[in-house]
Parts: sequence; structure tokens; C-alpha cells
Amino acid sequence: MDDFLTLQEIVAAAKSNLPPGPWSYLVGGAETETTVRRNRHALDSLAFRPRVLRDVSRIDSTGFFFKEKTRLPILLAPIGGLESLVEGGAATAARAAAQFGVPQMLSSVCKPGLEETAAAAKTIRSFQLYVRGDDAWVDDFVRRAKDNGFTSFCLTVDVASYSRRERDIVGRYVKPWRARAQEGAAFQAGLSWDQVKRFKDKHDLPLILKGIATVEDAQLAVDHGVEVVYVSNHGGRQLDHGLGTMAVLPEILKIVGKNAQVWVDGGFMRGSDVVKAIALGAKCVGLGRLTGLGLAAGGAAGLVRTLEILEEEIRICLGLLGVTSYAQLGPQHLAAAPVVNLPDTFSAFPLLTRL
Ligand SMILES: Cc1cc2nc3c(=O)[nH]c(=O)nc-3n(C[C@H](O)[C@H](O)[C@H](O)COP(=O)(O)O)c2cc1C
Repeated sequence: MDDFLTLQEIVAAAKSNLPPGPWSYLVGGAETETTVRRNRHALDSLAFRPRVLRDVSRIDSTGFFFKEKTRLPILLAPIGGLESLVEGGAATAARAAAQFGVPQMLSSVCKPGLEETAAAAKTIRSFQLYVRGDDAWVDDFVRRAKDNGFTSFCLTVDVASYSRRERDIVGRYVKPWRARAQEGAAFQAGLSWDQVKRFKDKHDLPLILKGIATVEDAQLAVDHGVEVVYVSNHGGRQLDHGLGTMAVLPEILKIVGKNAQVWVDGGFMRGSDVVKAIALGAKCVGLGRLTGLGLAAGGAAGLVRTLEILEEEIRICLGLLGVTSYAQLGPQHLAAAPVVNLPDTFSAFPLLTRL
């Protein structure tokens, strides 16, 4: 895997390893893919304001997932159907997470499932649920998650309907796990803040709400005592024509204050992207497609290599900004700037077409 020297090469390897159906599933978004592009646009319209002559010979790029130290301030975002991207599915991702030292958030629609994935590797584990059953069904997942060493629980709340992913539809790619999902669709559409309240009243696992995209909902999340407001638009895979997550992050951070942690995902492909989110005040950054690309490029070793390169990019970025830790980083290191590359899923990799 040391042959991969750049993230661009990892993307190219993933593309050549995956059949067209799974590739489109991994990289695609909803309808016009405007939200996908806006995620990148919001990241690319932030420039850095570097400080110099600050002795950056020792840099600490580690982060925290709640109270646990992690090698980077990131998490492997939940990905359903990982088994379509890599042999061993979620268990392979768990091994990579453990080897590198970052948390894995396991999707409830991923094989080989909760127990087997937990048994595959000892890593920091969070469990993400699509609510596709009644309260007893949810409680059973919470019990199983706790029994298997998952230390936090995530409800994804931006999935009232499954969106129209036109790359999949046009390509006639039928995802096996979608058939199972139909049964729970009514529960997903019926989800409300009542269930968040019920969860908080009944369970003591820290609760993450994933898919918050407005200050109004961030405030409601805080009012309900949620531990983490996870700012996300599902990587532009659900509601089309949304705002980029980095465009809404500052106002959400302001309203949440110290009442909860704020995490973010959507379009993060580079170390500099991660640094921008942390500079604004996010505590953790989720990697969706990049996780899938790393796995598709070379299994667990491919994802570890992806994270190593990302780490090197983060460390270089911090040093060039004149900081030695995230604590020294802040909005003063950022400025609004015009975007210079047309944003899309792979605009972070300008050499890609030439590889
Ligand atoms: C192939 C794929 C499958 C996904 N499956 C889930 C899922 O099961 N649950 C969930 O909450 N989010 C899911 N997501 C959304 C990711 O968790 C994350 O929010 C998003 O991918 C972040 O954007 P990025 O891909 O640009 O990094 C999925 C994303 C991808 C790319």
C-alpha cells in the first residue's frame, strides 16, 4: 500500500477496482447533485490566513472522540452496504479503524452486522441507527450496542424518505439492502422529536443526532439534551439543493455554544478540509466517501494508507498555519475567498484526469 503516495491515486485505484454499480452508489448524490457540489463549494470558499515564525517543530494532530483520544479528530462516518465496496464490509473497516486509531460509526444497514463487526477489531465504536421499527425495536438495538462495546448511539434524522439517486436509477443498480428497508419506511417517515425525548429519558448512552442542517433544529437538539449535534446533509445524498454543511456550521456552533459538541461531514477529502472545520470550532469531522474509497482501493490496508496520507496533510497544514495544536487554531486562521476550481465530488483532486 506504500505505493499510494497521494489521495488522488487512492481514488483512481478505487475507481478501477469497483464495478460501475457500487462505484455510482458510493460517489453519487441526490437528483442534480447540487448539495454534493455545495458541500465542496463551502469548503473551497474558505482560504487560510497563515502565521509564521512560531516554532512548529512539534505538532500534535491527535483528537478526541468524547473522552477518548484518537489519532486524528475524525470518525469513519456510517456507510450502509459497505459489503458492496470491500470484502468483509464493516468488519474490514473496523480493522482499519483499530489499526490506525480512529473511531468507527457503524451503520445499522451494513454487513456483517453489529455483533460480528464488534468482534472483528477492538476500536472506538459508535452505532448509527435508521429508525425502522417501533420503540421496542429501537431499545433492542441500544441493548445490543451496549452489550458489544459501542459507547455512543446515533440517530440519523435526514432520511424521512429515501431520495432519488439518479446514478443508481439510470444504471439500474438495485441495492440488496434497499429491499429490506422498505419494511421500515413508515417508521422512518414518522420519526419526530418525541422519539428523541423518549430516547433521552430512557437510555444513558450519549446521543448523536446526525443530519442537523439548520440553527432551529440545532437549538431543538440542545433543548432535548442531545450530546452531539452532527451537522450533515448525508453528503448530498438526501435532500437536493441544500446548503453546504460548512456554510451552516458557524451559525450552528454559535447557537449550540457549550451545550453540546458539534461534529460535521460533507465533502471532506483533504487534510486541509479537516483543519478548516476544526478552525471553525467543530470537534470531529466525518469521512464518508473517502472511507469507502480507501476501502475499495485496497481493503483495510487501503483505508489505513488513506488515513496516513490525510494525517500527513493535516500536520503539514497545521505547521504552515503556524500552530502546533488544534487549541491554537481558530476562525482567525480563515477568510472568505472566491472558489477557483468548479466544485464537485472530486474537485479536491485536480490531477485525477491525468492519472
Ligand atoms: C455509500 C454511502 C453510504 C452511506 N450510508 C449511510 C448510512 O447507512 N447511515 C448514515 O447515517 N449515513 C450514511 N451515509 C452518509 C455518511 O455517513 C456521511 O454523512 C456522508 O457520506 C458525508 O459526506 P462525504 O461522503 O462527502 O464525506 C452514507 C454515505 C455514503 C457515501
